Amino acid sequence: MAGLLVAILSGAGISTESGIPDYRGPNGLWRRDPEAEKLATYEYYMADPEIRRRSWQARRTLWELRPEPNAAHRAIADLDRSGVPVRVITQNVDGLHQRAGMPGRKVLELHGTTQDVVCTGCGARTPTPDVLPRLEAGEPDPPCLDCGGILKTATVMFGQELDPLVLGQAAAIARACEVMIAVGTSLQVYPAAGLVDIAVDGGARLIIVNAEPTPYDGPAGPRDTPVTRRLGLTEGPPSWLLWELDADAGRGRTAEGFTRPLAPFLGVMGLAPAEPGEHSTVPPRPACGGNIDCKELVAGTTLFLPVTVPGALLYLGDGHAAQGDGEVGGTAIECPMTTEVVIGLAPGRPLGTVHAEAPGGRVTFGFDADLNVAMGDALDAMVSWLQALTGLGRAAALALASTCVDMRITQVANQTWGVHAVLPAGLLGRDETGLPAR
Ligand SMILES: NC(=O)c1ccc[n+]([C@@H]2O[C@H](COP(=O)([O-])OP(=O)(O)OC[C@H]3O[C@@H](n4cnc5c(N)ncnc54)[C@H](O)[C@@H]3O)[C@@H](O)[C@H]2O)c1
Ligand SMILES: [Zn+2]
Repeated sequence: MAGLLVAILSGAGISTESGIPDYRGPNGLWRRDPEAEKLATYEYYMADPEIRRRSWQARRTLWELRPEPNAAHRAIADLDRSGVPVRVITQNVDGLHQRAGMPGRKVLELHGTTQDVVCTGCGARTPTPDVLPRLEAGEPDPPCLDCGGILKTATVMFGQELDPLVLGQAAAIARACEVMIAVGTSLQVYPAAGLVDIAVDGGARLIIVNAEPTPYDGPAGPRDTPVTRRLGLTEGPPSWLLWELDADAGRGRTAEGFTRPLAPFLGVMGLAPAEPGEHSTVPPRPACGGNIDCKELVAGTTLFLPVTVPGALLYLGDGHAAQGDGEVGGTAIECPMTTEVVIGLAPGRPLGTVHAEAPGGRVTFGFDADLNVAMGDALDAMVSWLQALTGLGRAAALALASTCVDMRITQVANQTWGVHAVLPAGLLGRDETGLPAR
């Protein structure tokens, strides 16, 4: 049976029934007291003992309420117990998903937890129940017992960076899920809200359960792409395969027993486009790459990207463990990945477009909403490259290409189609002296 991965993206609204007020809802803390925002803002917290005193008081008041999980937390844990694979990505810091029975390993706390206290000086971590009695004992802003540093709950305050590892795991879940349910969140806090974009772009169905409108209510409709339309898959239940990855053995395996050799590469490698404004990272661009999703670009590849803006503004990510040409299902086997890259400037390249020297051979790319145009661009670049490599005229280079160049569909998943031309390694028929091989 194929699994159906359900990602729950929860926010403060799921816990209001448990007595914990949210920030932006009708009875939200910030609507009642705009100053309250400061209590959760790192800069103010660190600078002002009075903010810390009020923040600790608020923590203590909430703690003494002893909030219990409510029906929504329990329904999610029940869904998981019923055999549907569930992952919870929560913006909450209250620990109520776990207390409702969700296994801790299936809960990602994007914004940390109030269950622990950390020292901002030495990093020491203490359970919150060990610190709160110090408030009662007359310390309004208890310092670290080891180093005297400022203590705070192990939460990610406004102005603090999210843990990149946790965020990476959340992004992988968003990309892999078939259904995302956003519950009790205004979807106004980033990067958490951006996980909805990732899920929708990856083809997931989006369900929003919230008392008020959110900026994402539009995409929460049925999934409909040219590919799913062509295959008759816009209606009916979605389906999914879950892969257990063994990085050491270089193998992925599903519960059904399908196995895949892993051939990891980064799906996203690009530079910023030259036009001003906001740019989606979904479509790959002929001018500067991006979401290329090409399985040839494995370790050992040199990828050449035209620089379009000062500073280039390189961005990388989107680990793929294995993928077929086309990435036809919208996502491949995607996973967090540690990558080592060497970045340099390469003047005097024979091509002004995105191209690569990969272990499998030389690769040129075309990206366009029209597959014919994408094919033409990839072939045009490959023929130009062959000319530069061989000194042949254009027609002769095309004739040579016809004997050895493979045209492949890179991807049909990201609004813009991708085609790549591959000149397999060792097929150029010249040795290192540049003389024709005998
Ligand atoms: N319980 C907690 O751990 C807690 C509480 C407050 C704030 N926070 C933090 O504050 C940030 C605020 O972002 P957010 O988007 O999660 O919350 P938010 O305060 O921005 O939005 C909560 C949303 O939930 C809705 N809502 C409230 N009660 C509801 C109910 N019973 N049923 C349905 N919808 C309901 C509100 O209309 C609102 O749109 C988060 O990043 C989180 O870290 C956490
Ligand atoms: Zn300390």
